[in-house]
Amino acid sequence: MTDKPFFFREIIFWYDAHRRDLPWRAKPSKIADPYHVWLSEIMLQQTTVPTVKSYFDHFLQLWPTVTDLAAAPLDDILHAWQGLGYYRRAHNLHKCAQTIVRDFGGSFPNTQDQLLTLPGIGPYTAAAISAIAFDKPAIVIDGNVERVVARFAGLEDPLPHLKKSVYAFLSTLNVTERSGDFAQAKMDLGSMICKPKNPLCTQCPLLKNCCAHKKNLQGDLPRPAPKKKKPTLYGHVFWHTRPDGAILLEKRPDQGLLGGMVGFPSTPWLPEAPSTPLSQLLPGEVTHTFTHFTLKLQVLISQNPPPIEYPLWVPPDQFHTLALPTVMKKIAKHALNALYMVESIE
Ligand code: ADE
Repeated sequence: MTDKPFFFREIIFWYDAHRRDLPWRAKPSKIADPYHVWLSEIMLQQTTVPTVKSYFDHFLQLWPTVTDLAAAPLDDILHAWQGLGYYRRAHNLHKCAQTIVRDFGGSFPNTQDQLLTLPGIGPYTAAAISAIAFDKPAIVIDGNVERVVARFAGLEDPLPHLKKSVYAFLSTLNVTERSGDFAQAKMDLGSMICKPKNPLCTQCPLLKNCCAHKKNLQGDLPRPAPKKKKPTLYGHVFWHTRPDGAILLEKRPDQGLLGGMVGFPSTPWLPEAPSTPLSQLLPGEVTHTFTHFTLKLQVLISQNPPPIEYPLWVPPDQFHTLALPTVMKKIAKHALNALYMVESIE
């Protein structure tokens, strides 16, 4: 017997005994409601299962069917979405519900191709709905599935190329029954047993034939994507002093990095430094590393404050009362040190 039937058989057997009871899931041997599957999959795109549970229940109370959701004012949906973030998902949720009512008579289509035409539904979500809600033999690959298969089959390609090999492995299995359970079994196994760190291999139903376990590679697979070099962005911050000594700060717009936080007014952060007469710039610069880029800021002693939506005037000896993000603390320290030889703002 090859490993392929073993993989399907063991994982389904394990799932029947250990599956998580999640609010959007059908009870064993029942078929799930496509509206529930769709809503949960959209919510789960950037959010964890424990957080999604309560939002999912709340949405179903407010809008029990896709037709109710389609008829809801967008503002109500955005309000109920508050806390889940990535609001484009909520906008698309509304558009998708309206499309289903308008073009599909209020019933979800069941093929991946038709699902893919709907707003906010990409290849992963189309495959998930088609498998979980309609039991179609779609291949569903999320991060958990990728990890389980990479370890079991010993697939060493680094992310994101790994997905192709995972897809190839799963297609050769030719699963034509219990496709939704097969997809969710891998998700549950990945989240409960085959965890990213410290997998519980002794409890795993696949242990006997797991390649990674044989080679002691379970901690190394899946291989991570090669580290990208971070780009550097540049900007100037304006240091504007009022005659009474207060410095101009602003509450930043809610969107974007440091959204809603207090900071010194800044030019946009771009791949090239803005050109400014050197005479107005303080010598030196502040470097700060964010997750996806390095930021280099120079301080510009400004005569005319730039227009600001939410200005705040604060004397330097009160900076410690502000919840300044680290990069802005660095700016304050740098400017005060250059201008007044002040060493600390704490
Ligand atoms: N993550 C995304 N979809 C899921 C599902 N249906 N079950 C468990 N985890 C998931």
